[in-house]
This record gives sequence, C-alpha cells and structure tokens, in this order.
Amino acid sequence: MTIDTETRDRLVAAARGAMPGAYAPYSGFRVGAALLFDDGAVVTGCNVENASYGLSLCAETVACAIAAQAGRRGGLVALAVLGGTAGANGAPVIAEAPVTPCGRCRQVVNEFAQLGGTDPLVLCVGAREIVEIRLSALLPHAFGPANLA
Ligand code: THU
Repeated sequence: MTIDTETRDRLVAAARGAMPGAYAPYSGFRVGAALLFDDGAVVTGCNVENASYGLSLCAETVACAIAAQAGRRGGLVALAVLGGTAGANGAPVIAEAPVTPCGRCRQVVNEFAQLGGTDPLVLCVGAREIVEIRLSALLPHAFGPANLA
C-alpha cells in the first residue's frame, strides 16, 4: 500500500510532534515515531530512556505499545521515525542522517504488520531527505506470529 504526499507529510509532522516528549537524558538523542493505520488513525511514541541504559525504550516500540493498548492488532500501513536534539529554544533539530529503526524495533513493528498481513512503508526521516523502505526489506525472513501457529 502506498501513501499520498499529504498523508506522508501528516505522518512526518506527527513524528516530529512526538519528539519533544522524549525522555532522553542519557543519549541526548530524542526520537519521535508515528504509526499510520488503515482507518487513517495516527499513533505516536517517543523514546523513554532509563538509568539502567539497556532498559531504554525506543520511540517505535513505545508507539506500538500505545497502539496495542488501544486495541490495535493490525492495519499498520506506514510509519515515520526521526530523531535529533533539542535546539536552544527546545524546538526539535532533526539529525542529518535519516533514522532507520533499530533491529529490536523492526521486530516489534513486524508483530503488528504480520498480524494484519501488511508490509508497512517505513519513512526514515533526516534533515534533508526521507528514505522510504518497506519493513520486509528492513527485516527479511522475519520471525512472527505465523511461526508459532
Ligand atoms: N532510538 C529510538 O528511539 N529508535 C530507534 O530506532 C533508534 C534509537 C533511541 C534509543 C535511545 O534512547 C536513543 O535513540 C539513542 O540510541
């Protein structure tokens, strides 16, 4: 499934809007993610770090958890992810390099993609470019719910 320019802009704006909510005192790298569902709903998340560094949660994972809590189990069409720092006035400064979801997040997103039989378009957003890539290309031969059936 593809998305039009307006929807794409809306999704990127939602990810950007989630970024200031990040709790990232250790890395200083704030991440915002936005999930788009087939009914047009957008669910956002931000990274939530922890003093025990390895327990930190990525923005995509937080967004998936929020969507799951709201009852969503499929219909994931696309997601956008971006990251960066807080500028002088607290406004987001988007990093130059497009943010690609980490390996763990690819697996977490895959759960909701496979459940609903979709292959979401992942918008990896950088300051000057957006790389669009399917989840199946980021996580080929994924292990998912079907493997346990
Ligand atoms: N991070 C995300 O939220 N998503 C990713 O896909 C990559 C990394 C977060 C984790 C950590 O809080 C910070 O970015 C620096 O790695």
